[in-house]
Amino acid sequence: MPDIVLPQTRYYGSKRKIVDKIWNILTNEANLQFDSILDVFGGSASFSYYSKLHNKQVFYNDIFQFNFIIGKKLIEQNTNELTYENAISLFERIQGVEYLNYISEFYNDIYFTNEENDQIDVYIQNVLALDNENIQCSALYILFQSCLMKRPYNLFHRKNLNMRLNYTTGKFGNKQTWERSFEELFMRFINELDKVCIDNGRINTAHNFSALNCPLNADLVYIDPPYFKKESTTSYHSKYHFLEGLVNYYNIPDNINFNKNNREITINASREFEDKTNFLNDLRTLINNHLNSHIVISYRNNGIPSIQAIYELLRSFEVFEVLEYNLGQYNYALNRNNNVNEEVLFVCKNINR
Ligand SMILES: C[S@@+](CC[C@H](N)C(=O)[O-])C[C@H]1O[C@@H](n2cnc3c(N)ncnc32)[C@H](O)[C@@H]1O
Repeated sequence: MPDIVLPQTRYYGSKRKIVDKIWNILTNEANLQFDSILDVFGGSASFSYYSKLHNKQVFYNDIFQFNFIIGKKLIEQNTNELTYENAISLFERIQGVEYLNYISEFYNDIYFTNEENDQIDVYIQNVLALDNENIQCSALYILFQSCLMKRPYNLFHRKNLNMRLNYTTGKFGNKQTWERSFEELFMRFINELDKVCIDNGRINTAHNFSALNCPLNADLVYIDPPYFKKESTTSYHSKYHFLEGLVNYYNIPDNINFNKNNREITINASREFEDKTNFLNDLRTLINNHLNSHIVISYRNNGIPSIQAIYELLRSFEVFEVLEYNLGQYNYALNRNNNVNEEVLFVCKNINR
């Protein structure tokens, strides 16, 4: 196995910092035997990528197309064919092409500066016109990561360009990072792609289903769903709608919610697993779809429904021996309020395997 280099990520709920602990529990403490994994709520692909590094066959899945592209880049594709020079040239207007300016027009003063909006408009249209899928995924990957780095909280749930521009001092914030140019950030992410794109000798694939419509299966199914705290939580869609919009650039104008200050783009919004009152039902249905696999669930001590409720649901399935592990205190990179989260892992060991 090559030295472990995990892609950097600024993704809400990413397991990057604890994936080694999770892996240790699965393979040593719970002693699960598996050759393939399905990462149903793949997100930044940290679990999928770790599994790829460990030579498993990996099926990555996420409801959002922008995440699916991240999954394609890191899990399905084994190389990066985009050079830095090539990436930068995608900011140039091609003679004879008529460019639309949806970001400049509809997102003025919301997330990025005028100059950056103009760069995004040209770049995304050039990238969507590429026919080399490897280059296209790389070009989208470095754009998504750079957009996230330039945003306060690394999210798109608020119209808060002001916060970035007027930031002077204080405990939170990374003005220097926000003000880095796309060109500078692209250099960093191209270098990273060159390091992390690897071939593990298996056929690994990325998919774009909602969890309950995902027809795939594997020896081990990893479930890391959105989770809710007592305070209302912003949905994943609302946090990342802008990136989903970029992938669907030509459909943006027809899908903007002008009633919201952040001009949320409604494409691919779903209530599945995003409604705390229906969460247990969704989870029950999902588990029923994977009764021949080992199932592993990441959860937190302060979530709704409670750990106890999840445990009881899992225990109601006869095919599993249910083990619960506490991974200890863990503050997410994007959690600024210092509330203590304890990360919990449920391992449902399939007794028929
Ligand atoms: C807690 S995050 C997963 C984080 C991931 N394990 C990582 O390390 O980055 C939950 C993910 O579920 C995705 N998601 C939300 N609702 C979904 C659904 N109904 N089906 C599939 N994916 C969904 C979100 O896009 C988000 O990426």
